[in-house]
Amino acid sequence: MADQKVYQASTTAPVNIAVVKYWGKRDAKLNLPTNSSVSVTLSQADLRTHTTAACSSSFTEDTLLLNSSSQDVSGPRTQACFRELRSLRAALEESNPSLPKLSTLPLRIVSENNFPTAAGLASSAAGFAALVRAIANLYELPSSPTDLSRIARQGSGSACRSLFGGYVAWQMGWKADGSDSVAVEIAPASHWPTMRALILVVSAEKKGVSSTSGMQITVGTSGLFQRRAEIVVPKHMAEMEKAILEKDFQAFGKVTMMESNSFHATCLDTFPPIFYLNDVSRAAIRVVEDINREAGKIIAAYTFDAGPNAVIYYEEKDTEAVAGVLNGALGNLDGWQSRNIKAQSTSALDARAVQVLKDGVARVILTQVGEGPIRIEESLIAANGEPIKK
Ligand code: DP6
Repeated sequence: MADQKVYQASTTAPVNIAVVKYWGKRDAKLNLPTNSSVSVTLSQADLRTHTTAACSSSFTEDTLLLNSSSQDVSGPRTQACFRELRSLRAALEESNPSLPKLSTLPLRIVSENNFPTAAGLASSAAGFAALVRAIANLYELPSSPTDLSRIARQGSGSACRSLFGGYVAWQMGWKADGSDSVAVEIAPASHWPTMRALILVVSAEKKGVSSTSGMQITVGTSGLFQRRAEIVVPKHMAEMEKAILEKDFQAFGKVTMMESNSFHATCLDTFPPIFYLNDVSRAAIRVVEDINREAGKIIAAYTFDAGPNAVIYYEEKDTEAVAGVLNGALGNLDGWQSRNIKAQSTSALDARAVQVLKDGVARVILTQVGEGPIRIEESLIAANGEPIKK
């Protein structure tokens, strides 16, 4: 009888939130960007995808189960990841004929997020990073995180940055085959471990325009976009890398906010325009400005992706002045207790903005800079190959 053994490996992978934004592709098939970007990897204690990859001759086809619901794997992005990983495994098998021929077996991937997928958080980044890392573990590939980032990028651009912890750059690269469009570590989480992130979850609705199609329309119609890619981002990349290496929050915060504003300006300059920010997002901007004015310097920095949720970065030493004041403004929401954050006076804040935030923020997530993917033993697939029901 043929070998029906179920081979498997598991990993977790983090979410990352960009501080220099990726927006625009020069090659939509390979997900090659029009500019480089930088992100902070967030702690997996709060936000992570857990993925088990298995293969066996007893499986009939490649499948993917996310939070117990079956996903289509026939799309070009998932197919590209499977194909690239299989070909690396096939090369290993060719050089060492004693290895089992895993590259020829159907894959079963089971994945779970520890946060609501619908909350509009960067779930595709953690998802593709976990999928690629789990299959690389299953295949025992000697590939580095940078090698794997080249593959994860083809699943979702921002996923390439989730192969690393800490502070990560995605170098846009210039080659047509994308071989130099990869993620690299700027600094590990331990270099600047006091970085905190507070996420204001504004809406649980699914976003209006997906990043993938939104950025294509921007590239095709916005005049501002070209200036952003050619002049604004290269300057911000250099300033951001320096700010991170020097742990200079003033510079980090300024570039973070200007980057978010520049990206959303190109969205407004898209035709027809794309609006990701709403009144609640703008109230968050106003409150962060008030906090900084009160402090007399930048101690909090907002950033927004393709949706209305605000991510606010700050340093641990400013917890009271940032998270404490936001707790005072938002009042009774879950999340503050997890970090023992006491409500502070909101007298420095615009009262109208506070009311808009109170009405519009559904949930807060308090987290911090964290580590890259972690190989774990806990599996989502039983020894007989069946998904484990939670
Ligand atoms: C605004 O990585 O989701 O979050 O490559 O088409 O999958 P695709 O896009 P995606 O875009 C993320 C855009 C962003 C900025 C960023 O994360 O850099």
